[in-house]
Amino acid sequence: MTEEAYRLITPDGHELELPVHKGTTGPDVVDIGRLYNNQGVFTYDPGFIATGSCASDITFIDGEKGILMYRGYPVEQLAEHSNFIEVCYLLLNGELPTASELEEFDTTIRTHTMLNEGMLNFFKGFRYNAHPMAMLSAVVGSMSAYYHDTTDVHNPEHRDIFAHRIVAKLPTIAAAAYKLSIGQPFMYPKNGLNYTENFLQMMFSVPAERYETDPIQAEALDLLFILHADHEQNCSTSTVRMAGSSGANPYSAIAAGISALWGPAHGGANEAVLRMLDEIGDVSQIDKYLAKAKDKDDPFRLMGFGHRVYKNFDPRATIIREMAHKVLNSLPNNNETPLFELALKLEELALKDDYFIEKNLYPNVDFYSGIIYKALGIPTSMFTVMFALGRSVGWVSHWREMISDPNQKIARPRQLYVGAAERDYVPLEKR
Ligand code: CMC
Repeated sequence: MTEEAYRLITPDGHELELPVHKGTTGPDVVDIGRLYNNQGVFTYDPGFIATGSCASDITFIDGEKGILMYRGYPVEQLAEHSNFIEVCYLLLNGELPTASELEEFDTTIRTHTMLNEGMLNFFKGFRYNAHPMAMLSAVVGSMSAYYHDTTDVHNPEHRDIFAHRIVAKLPTIAAAAYKLSIGQPFMYPKNGLNYTENFLQMMFSVPAERYETDPIQAEALDLLFILHADHEQNCSTSTVRMAGSSGANPYSAIAAGISALWGPAHGGANEAVLRMLDEIGDVSQIDKYLAKAKDKDDPFRLMGFGHRVYKNFDPRATIIREMAHKVLNSLPNNNETPLFELALKLEELALKDDYFIEKNLYPNVDFYSGIIYKALGIPTSMFTVMFALGRSVGWVSHWREMISDPNQKIARPRQLYVGAAERDYVPLEKR
């Protein structure tokens, strides 16, 4: 980071110099860290619209141009040429692996897939209809109980082991949650299979039958994992950083990220899109729902539309839209084609509508991902879990960056207090 100064004229007419940090690309940031000591004022920016919380060299997004890069590599290139495990290595280590580095990393992930057998008992405590995101968050949080004394956040080797365990064990936990919800036996991981094939095997195989992975299913899922792998300082990643900034056990920081992801404005949107399409039901109802989305007095929003950062298009949505076509064409007798046609019509009409044009509202990654998941036989309640599997490597990469940053401090925002001014306590009998 190089520095320039940003000059502010304060209300009393003084000139104040604030350092400016320049990144590799993207907007400069004005460092306001000294503003309070100097001027006695805080800054106010609900939702962090214009506030950078850290310096990061992991992921870059240009929302105007629809650019997303992991460690400098455009996501389109990674989607076309790479696979999820290689992307995990890239995000965690900063560089693409050599053949031997990739083999070693792949073997490490494959050999950390099993859960401590005691952890499986947690699943027996959940009600049969527990939401899989609740189970995922709870069981990942419980990993902090298994790996508490052995995880020293200041030890780089421990940080690596933590990273490998999260990437390797999340699919096992996710599949166990699914199996519980449908009353089938838990399927152990098979380390001869790659990451995505293994996950599919744990989800869809049963002890009584032979199971073979469908290559289109594996390709589509691997692509979705790549596209969800990281998205710089989004809500769940910032939650992981914030929880971890106190030095908390990193497994519990990841559990906090999973909880943040679950919300319908974030990762929960993929589930909400499918529920919305079910509710709309038919092309003839689209106008009614567009009117609802535009009505300020109606809380309904077009799920899968809009993004805090992307204001022209979401590059992930463009890639996924193509994959949705491929998956639906490869499954000629699938039941999801009418749903996809409804989604395409909704997209077409919304993109022509002045309200959506003026507010720069475009389909985001989650507009199409649910349709693919559904066509692959993944139930709606598991959609956000799929997002979590992909994003887990992003969370871990950011946590590692945060914990080893020499400028790292406990995250502790300030506030504008608008409550009652000081007043005296009134005894109960006088109220
Ligand atoms: N449908 C209708 N109106 C919308 C929508 C929508 N999907 N999204 C935003 N708006 C309107 C909003 O009412 C506001 O209007 P006004 O200026 O008149 O008050 C304006 O557009 C700006 O919206 P905002 O909520 O201030 O924007 P934001 O940057 O805080 O929110 C968002 C971004 C993604 C939360 C929001 O667009 C949204 O709720 N979308 C639907 C949920 C969704 O699809 N989320 C998935 C995001 S992509 C996956 C991920 O990365 O998590």
